[in-house]
Amino acid sequence: MSDLVVRGGTLVQPDWSGPADLHLSDGVVKAVVAPGTALPDTEVLDATGKLVMPGGVDPHCHVGFTSGEFTSLDGYAECTTAAVLGGTTTIVDFAIPRPGQRPIDVAADQQAKISQGLCDAALHASVVEWDDTTAEQLRSLAADGLVTVKMFTTYRGETMASADTILKTMQVLKESGGMVVIHCEANPIIEEDQRRAADRNQIDAANMAGTRSELAETAAVAEVLAIAETLDAPVYFVHQSTPAAVELVAAARRRGLRAYTESVAHHLVLDDSLYSGPNPERWVCCPPLRDRATVEALGGYLANGEITTVASDHCCYDTAQKVSHKHDVRHMPNGLPGVQTRLPVIFSKYVAGGRITPSRFVELTAANPARTNGIYPRKGTLAPGSDADLVLWDPQARWTITASELAQATDYTPYEGMEVTGRPETVVVGGRVIAAGGQIVDATPRGRFLPGAIAR
Ligand code: URP
Ligand code: ZN
Ligand code: ZN
Ligand code: ZN
Repeated sequence: MSDLVVRGGTLVQPDWSGPADLHLSDGVVKAVVAPGTALPDTEVLDATGKLVMPGGVDPHCHVGFTSGEFTSLDGYAECTTAAVLGGTTTIVDFAIPRPGQRPIDVAADQQAKISQGLCDAALHASVVEWDDTTAEQLRSLAADGLVTVKMFTTYRGETMASADTILKTMQVLKESGGMVVIHCEANPIIEEDQRRAADRNQIDAANMAGTRSELAETAAVAEVLAIAETLDAPVYFVHQSTPAAVELVAAARRRGLRAYTESVAHHLVLDDSLYSGPNPERWVCCPPLRDRATVEALGGYLANGEITTVASDHCCYDTAQKVSHKHDVRHMPNGLPGVQTRLPVIFSKYVAGGRITPSRFVELTAANPARTNGIYPRKGTLAPGSDADLVLWDPQARWTITASELAQATDYTPYEGMEVTGRPETVVVGGRVIAAGGQIVDATPRGRFLPGAIAR
């Protein structure tokens, strides 16, 4: 494999940034040196005026996800193409059992697809129902590097797990060196919110925000934290959308619990006014978009350190799927496409907007997601020995997001028409340039499964 030298850029690491040159060799970072230091005479990538950042790690990305009657529209080739064009070079997907399926079988099936991708991927396993084989399956998954296990407190009849099952899963994972990653919304509260909305004949997408309250989110977070604290088990909360929930996790962390908050880009940028516009079904997701004051307050936790990671919760449905049950949010496919836009919208609003530094951006979108999935420092940083996955980022470029210029396998973006500052210019995966100027220049499938290891 040929070598590559990256010269003249500003290297952005999670803990520092400054001018530095890089030597990439055999798919890994060989050296990080002061600008101008002699390096092997090989192909040079000119990074003048660019930020050189570790490729993004998206810790929450649904690839070809089936829920109810709907399956999201991308496979690994499509999802990772969009990811790479957006500056993300590692995704973490889910292996979520359908009723009757075994976690271990679903994980093996999903893992087999990773080689179709343009970049590497890790997987969250998932437990919905406990039986007398589950503990052994979890130990076997952990031994194979599937150390994070997704659980849900909602979606009755689909993926909802009982508090008993959550506790038992956490207990086994604590011993085997793993961690529950959990979607927290208290299902009885959601069902009551929805029943009342239906009684008022307000159960369409225009009323989405009122069908899944902030109270439902904080109630479930409090219960799951209590279970984790009882066991002293680590726990990671996906897509926290409300400051009260972030505060609960931060307080538990101050008491010594290994508890982490993930927020997703759409909850940090978009607000619930979109439910009053055309095609509000396109923004139906769980938790829903919140009001503007909540979005801005949530954004404050990016700067103060209480949010650990920023994900996309990418779920690639198209408009036809989103509007196919127009009258009732209970039957709509939940989730928004976003693997390609996660880095640009967060960079624009929060880095170009002066609210976080480039290093904090890298920490939130690459280093910490790699850490919580047990794949750091292989991913998420550019230290000697790390995989040579990086992005040359133009911090000044102004552009307008439009679905027709994105590669996501759908006909819309939740950010249509949004003007942003900052964009990925050149993307290197495994030491090779695979995207440049907004185009894939090497579409060779090269995805590898990334086994994780989390300290006990
Ligand atoms: O609405 C969402 N978030 N859909 C994807 C599945 C999930 O709950 O994360
Ligand atoms: Zn979820
Ligand atoms: Zn999700
Ligand atoms: Zn219907």
